[in-house]
Amino acid sequence: MTINQPLVAGNWKMHKNIRETREFLHSLIKLLRPPLPCEVAIFPPFTSLPAAAEILTDSGIALGAQNVHWEPTGAFTGEISPLFLVELGCRYCIIGHSERRLLFGETDEICNRKIKAAQSAGLRPILCCGETLEERNAHQTIEILRRQLEKGLKGITSADLDIAYEPVWAIGTGHTATPDQAAEIHNWIHLWLRSRFDDAADHIRVLYGGSVKPENAMALIRQTGVDGLLVGGASLDVNTFSIIVNSFKEGQSVFS
Ligand code: PGA
Repeated sequence: MTINQPLVAGNWKMHKNIRETREFLHSLIKLLRPPLPCEVAIFPPFTSLPAAAEILTDSGIALGAQNVHWEPTGAFTGEISPLFLVELGCRYCIIGHSERRLLFGETDEICNRKIKAAQSAGLRPILCCGETLEERNAHQTIEILRRQLEKGLKGITSADLDIAYEPVWAIGTGHTATPDQAAEIHNWIHLWLRSRFDDAADHIRVLYGGSVKPENAMALIRQTGVDGLLVGGASLDVNTFSIIVNSFKEGQSVFS
């Protein structure tokens, strides 16, 4: 298991067909020679997962899905079972991304069912949480995060999961949380996790997500409590993504 390593996750959202997936991953494997400076996982669209799984076999780069259904099988037209994702070689699954919450009506209760289903199938869920700009301005950040974590993780006993703090106002906007803002929230999340999971909380990483770029990656990961990055837009270009991954090489500043 590599859960004590930081994780850089590339969330492609609804980008890259099978050909583009193949091109990207062949280049990525060439650019990221082992040993990798951290754990790396790619989250392509469902349709590209089989091609990605084939290319990533024995690469040391993990595969994940952007969403999952909460039942293992059944009459759920258009949905994807966690068992199917495991069969394809997925290790991770993003749950409760703000786009799913805001555009597709995903509630904390739905996230909770999905986390349980993912863990039962052997996937490691990454639960996304974060406040909107209005909520931040109204000083409700902690209240929102507490609700998302309490409800999202209700009844969950296994610490085989990660959290991504993604302030909604920072996603795809170019506005990143400052390193200080990220550190404050990450430390609060770690404390909450410890009160909930005791020592097992040490194995839960808290990733930062929201307009991560090569220019800000280094400052973010230097903060205590930032155990990795969930990268959206900047994960679509293989060179840019590799630079972000290589920010984890100890002592190396890619821009200095
Ligand atoms: P972004 O997206 O890096 O493009 O802001 C992050 C995410 O949505 O996970």
